[in-house]
Amino acid sequence: MITSLDEEKKIPQHIAIIMDGNGRWAQAQGKGRVVGHKAGVDSVRAVVKGARKAEVKALTLFAFSSENWQRPEQEVSVLMDLFMYVLTKEVKRLHKNNIRFQVIGDLSRFSDKLQKSIKKSEQLTAANTGLILSIAANYGGRWDIANAAKQLASQVQNNEISLDEINENSLHEHTCLAQLPALDLLIRTGGDFRISNFLLWQAAYAEFYFTDILWPDFNEDEFNKAIDVFDQRERRFGKTGEQAQNS
Ligand code: IPE
Ligand code: IPE
Ligand code: MG
Repeated sequence: MITSLDEEKKIPQHIAIIMDGNGRWAQAQGKGRVVGHKAGVDSVRAVVKGARKAEVKALTLFAFSSENWQRPEQEVSVLMDLFMYVLTKEVKRLHKNNIRFQVIGDLSRFSDKLQKSIKKSEQLTAANTGLILSIAANYGGRWDIANAAKQLASQVQNNEISLDEINENSLHEHTCLAQLPALDLLIRTGGDFRISNFLLWQAAYAEFYFTDILWPDFNEDEFNKAIDVFDQRERRFGKTGEQAQNS
């Protein structure tokens, strides 16, 4: 009989993170919220490093939600500048590390300059075969599903598919990240227990990991802790525990 000690650790193939708590982290130190956003970039570097070491296939990070436009103009503007800065400064390093970089979300609301920079970064790294790093920006889970529905509807309208061909699989094919392994682990930092319109479709059978740690304090050790917790979870996908253990 194989004991659990002999079994290999389960590594999630696809991890997504709601990087929350930047503002509170800065405010706790008497600083402005944007200081937290800047500090959060170090945590992004740390989790990318951790994901590469653990040989995770895909890492998806929630950087800016479709609801975050409601924040004060100055905060939104700093976030856009930071995004631009990261694209110009960090993408070369990602490329060197064989990382494929992509941005998911409705990019049409971003400045032309930012959209061009995103395209350039995606093209530069498109052929890389290592970690797939997706940044969700102006992303909303409801938008993603509505967008997929719209594409299917347009195919029906153009007689490319029949109504009967609309099903879970075909809708899935039109959602963001459809080419990636299924989402295994969804991490949220910052102490709240909600999904905030992130990967609604993709999270159907993901394991959830919530931590009170604020995003700028999240590091490689904390990331590895989440992977260890995932390893201990029993994923049953609707089956009984016994069935799941035998499969
Ligand atoms: C997450 O941190 C980053 C973004 C949403 C862009 P917050 O800015 O939400 O930080 P808190 O939750 O207010 O502390
Ligand atoms: C979710 O955080 C979005 C990102 C981390 C980018 P929020 O701080 O916007 O979430 P809510 O508003 O507290 O639900
Ligand atoms: Mg927040």
